[in-house]
Amino acid sequence: MRSVKCDETHQLRDTIAAHFPVKGMDLLARTEPFHRWFSARRDSGTWMGNRTVETRDRLRVRLANLDGTVAEGLNFAAQDYLGLNDHPAVHQAVVDALHEHGPHSAGSDMLLGNSRDSLALRAELGHFLQREHVVLFPTGWGAAFGAIRGLVRRNDHLVLDRLSHNSLQNGARSATENISYFDHNDIDSAEQILRAIRAKDKQNAILLVTESVFSMDADSPNLRRLGELCREYSAAFLVDVAHDLGALGPTGLGRLEEQDALGMPDLIMGAFSKTFCTTGGFLAVRSEAVAQYVRCFGDANTFSNAMTPLQIAAVRATLKIIRQPEGAHLRAKLLQASLRLRQSLTTRGLKIFGEPCALVPVHTGPERLGRTAAALSARRGVLVNSVEYPAVAIGATRLRLQLSPAHADEDLDHCAQVIADSISEAK
Ligand SMILES: Cc1ncc(COP(=O)(O)O)c(C=O)c1O
Repeated sequence: MRSVKCDETHQLRDTIAAHFPVKGMDLLARTEPFHRWFSARRDSGTWMGNRTVETRDRLRVRLANLDGTVAEGLNFAAQDYLGLNDHPAVHQAVVDALHEHGPHSAGSDMLLGNSRDSLALRAELGHFLQREHVVLFPTGWGAAFGAIRGLVRRNDHLVLDRLSHNSLQNGARSATENISYFDHNDIDSAEQILRAIRAKDKQNAILLVTESVFSMDADSPNLRRLGELCREYSAAFLVDVAHDLGALGPTGLGRLEEQDALGMPDLIMGAFSKTFCTTGGFLAVRSEAVAQYVRCFGDANTFSNAMTPLQIAAVRATLKIIRQPEGAHLRAKLLQASLRLRQSLTTRGLKIFGEPCALVPVHTGPERLGRTAAALSARRGVLVNSVEYPAVAIGATRLRLQLSPAHADEDLDHCAQVIADSISEAK
C-alpha cells in the first residue's frame, strides 16, 4: 500500500466547509474546484468517505477505498451496537418476511405502506417505550426531520442543543426561523433561553430538542432536569434516542431509563440503524392526535415510501432480542468492551470524550492530524472513522470508534495500541 503523505498541503488542511458557498451561473461547472480538492484528498489516501465493504465478515473486514486501494483489518467503524446483524433469528425473520410479503412496501404510510407486521411493530415499540402511539419513517433522518416539521409552525420556537444532529437541525430550519441553540448539555443555558422566550411570547409553542447520547461526544444531558424545565416553561420536549435505545440501560431503554426519566419526553424519536441493524426510524408519543397529525404533516413519511417488510421484520426480531435476557447479556458485554477500550486508550495518554457507551471518540484536533491518524491506523489493520466538519466543529476532529459485543478483549487492546501509535506518528 502507498505511504500516507503527511505534508502540509491544502488537502490535509482545508475542510469541506470551504466548498459550500459556491457562486456562479453554471450550477454544474462550479462543483469543479471542490472536485480538485476532493481528488487530491482521495489520491493522498486521506479521504475516508464513500468506502465499500467487501466482506461478509463485519468484524474483520476488507474495505475498498475510492482511490482503488484496500484496507483490511479490525472494524471499529460499524454501527451495529449489539452485533445483531449476524443473529440467526434476525436472518430468519427477514427471510420469512421476504417469502410472505416480497421486498417492497407498496406506498407511503398514508397510502398502502402498512401491513399487519408494521402495525404489530408499532404496538410492540409503543409498549416498550411506554407510549401508546408510534409513527414509523423510512429513515431515522426522516423521523427527526418529520417529527419537527410535522408539529412546529412559523411563529413557534425551537430550542436545540448546539450539537444536535443534522436531521434535527434541518427539521428545525424547515419549520421556523425562531431557532435558538443552548450550550451543549448546559441546563442553565437552556433555561435562560426558555425564560427569555416565555417573557416575550405566551402565545406560541416551544419545542426543546436534545439527544440522549451524542454520537460525536459520547455524552448525555440531564434528561430529567431538561424535562422539568420544559414543564416549567410550557415547552414540549423531544429526545432523539438513536444511539442508546436498545444498547444501554437495564432493559434497553437507554439513558432515559438510567436517569429514571422515561416519563419526561413528550416526543421520543429514534433510528433503527444503530442497534436494530436495519434502516428506518420512529416517533413515539402518548396522544393519537399528535401521531396522526405527524402522519399527515411530517413530509418525510407522508411523501416517502414506508419501511419495507424486510426492515419491519428485522426491527421486530431485534426488538424481541433486546427485551430478552439475551439483550441484557449483549448490553453488558458492550459496556465491558467500552470500559476496557476507554481504559486502554486513557492509559496510553489519549484524550477521550464522554461516558461509556457504544461510541468512544478519541481527540485528534486539527484536520490534518485526524485524517493522517485514521489513514495510518488503517495501514496497521484498525479501521476507524475520522470525523470532522460538519459533524464536529472545524479543528475538532476525532477518531470515532464504534463498538459491538463481538469485539474481544485482545481486539480492544490491539485497537488502543494502534490508535496511540498512529496519533503519535501523525503528530
Ligand atoms: C442522533 C441521530 N439522529 C438521527 C440519525 C439519522 O438516522 P439514520 O442514519 O438511520 O437515518 C442519526 C444517524 O446518523 C443520528 O446520529
